[in-house]
Amino acid sequence: MTAVLQVDGLTKHFAKDDTAVVALRDFSLDIAEGSFVTVLGRSGCGKSTMLNLLAGLAEPTTGTVRYRDHPLTGPHTEIGYLTQSDTLMPWRDVQRNVEMPLEISGIAAKERRARAAELIRRVGLAGFEKHYPRELSGGMRRRASLARMLAGTPSTLLMDEPFGALDAQLRTELQAELLRLWQGSGQTVVFVTHDIEEALLLGDRVVVLGRIGRIVLDRAIELPRPREIDELRVDPAFVGMHGELARALKGEAP
Ligand SMILES: Nc1ncnc2c1ncn2[C@@H]1O[C@H](COP(=O)(O)OP(=O)(O)O)[C@@H](O)[C@H]1O
Ligand SMILES: [Mg+2]
Repeated sequence: MTAVLQVDGLTKHFAKDDTAVVALRDFSLDIAEGSFVTVLGRSGCGKSTMLNLLAGLAEPTTGTVRYRDHPLTGPHTEIGYLTQSDTLMPWRDVQRNVEMPLEISGIAAKERRARAAELIRRVGLAGFEKHYPRELSGGMRRRASLARMLAGTPSTLLMDEPFGALDAQLRTELQAELLRLWQGSGQTVVFVTHDIEEALLLGDRVVVLGRIGRIVLDRAIELPRPREIDELRVDPAFVGMHGELARALKGEAP
């Protein structure tokens, strides 16, 4: 296996009123090139902390992250990060938000516009190009953020509960779109979720986190693709894994 990301012994402390809050302790994980890894865990178990470290946005207290065999010391142009909270630029409309990564890499205006328009269409925002983030619903902002991340054509995608706040219908649509975009792309995805079904629907592999990022389960998801959630729900293999993941999470009840 070629590991794109090699995470070794990551610990992260935050200072809080003179005491250290341990958000993540001794976390190690290798992510194989081209794989879709879902990371499942309850709220507060350190998922976002872990992803910030993988994105090079935060510095570990101890431990290392290596990206393609080099130490990661800051954000990397090949790594796209869809954070849990919105980071759209309020003064830019949807079109210009999505164009941003293309602007940064110096793509000419005409090509930039065409590529952004295509991505905006794929996430179902056609017609909203001229809208500003404040004029969009939460779900629409998520979709715009997704399009913006994809515009940078990252080879590694880090996604932090990207569809958590969406209505069920939209979530299903975007999950399907994400899988269409990923399949055959060779991209590596680390997708954080607290939803068992989502973890099983999307991933090749699921890593279940307990408190302070302890890995309580790490297993392959051998379900054939393409996957349909309605079919999976009656598939014995899926049902079995669902139970296994639920038990792993439950063992970690606060
Ligand atoms: N910037 C911060 N300062 C202090 N504590 C933090 C900070 N970020 C996260 N934490 C704490 O670290 C723990 C893990 O948080 P987080 O990584 O956001 O969990 P998750 O994403 O799994 O919900 C929580 O106890 C949280 O309160
Ligand atoms: Mg989080």
